[in-house]
Amino acid sequence: MRVLVTEPLPGKGIDLLSNRYEVTVGQRGEFDRESRLLETIGSYDALLSCLSNPVSRKVLEAGQNLRIVSNFAVGYNNIDVEAAKELGILVANTPDVLTEATADCAFALLLGVARRLRDAESQLRNGGFDGWHPFGFLGTELYGKRVGIIGMGRIGRAFARRARGFSMQIYYHNRNRLDPQDEQQLDAQYTSSIDELIESSDILSLHCPLTPDTKHLINRDRLSRMKSGAIIINTARGPVIDEPALASALHEKQIGGAGLDVYEKEPEVHPDLLTAPNCLLLPHIGSATTETRSRMSALAASSIISHLSGKPDHAIPALVFQRSKPE
Ligand code: GLV
Repeated sequence: MRVLVTEPLPGKGIDLLSNRYEVTVGQRGEFDRESRLLETIGSYDALLSCLSNPVSRKVLEAGQNLRIVSNFAVGYNNIDVEAAKELGILVANTPDVLTEATADCAFALLLGVARRLRDAESQLRNGGFDGWHPFGFLGTELYGKRVGIIGMGRIGRAFARRARGFSMQIYYHNRNRLDPQDEQQLDAQYTSSIDELIESSDILSLHCPLTPDTKHLINRDRLSRMKSGAIIINTARGPVIDEPALASALHEKQIGGAGLDVYEKEPEVHPDLLTAPNCLLLPHIGSATTETRSRMSALAASSIISHLSGKPDHAIPALVFQRSKPE
């Protein structure tokens, strides 16, 4: 059987596959073009894709032998899941294994923005550190602040645990309310109105999947109703925020800052974000730790092995993505 891995991966995933199948590994970025996937996919039984690969209906239809698409990511908005279902192609993702790394990244962005680390560090590097002074880079402290979490899946909950450790007040909105026991454990209060959550939060952290419902969830109107001084963190998906609207809100100092790991048209970053004050920008590195990426690679490969061998391994979380709760 033949497996296409769209680009080199860390960890043991490719070895696990190569021990059993004929494996082709693409070049970095090669399969970010739909046309490359279309002309290649025809002879493969399995595809190990990355989130930058557009696994469209056309691609799935061209994969006449394709039985599984295993995405090296927890998000799977790059895959036409409806088409996969219709065509009987299984879709797998990599939940759980990246939860803590992604929550760390979101919290790092929060601390960085709250304490203005980017500007402070670059002033020092540019030779501008002329000694301690009372007004040097005054930031915002997190202690006691009200954090609003949108999307209380695994990563949202892991972010809440970190916020709790910083003695923040935790509020959240989610499609489904958590069990009272989970709410109690996280010390998190449910807010049924997303607008109320947005308007009342000092910090807003996004952890919802990208769906037609969450596209531009944070729009110009909602940004205008955020507290002045509020900070917004996005480690979910870029299109959840209307980027030009966020850039204007930052330039006009309607809000206090933003920390972003994801963008609407990756790898492009809106030029007005690059010049916006107190905006910390990372190149989509939420899950980028050696440990996590190794686990993701093994999990993505195991999903393929399990499916192609016809021996479903129930120890593998979310082998069939439909069974997993989205992050
Ligand atoms: C990263 O963004 C992922 O979805 O895993």
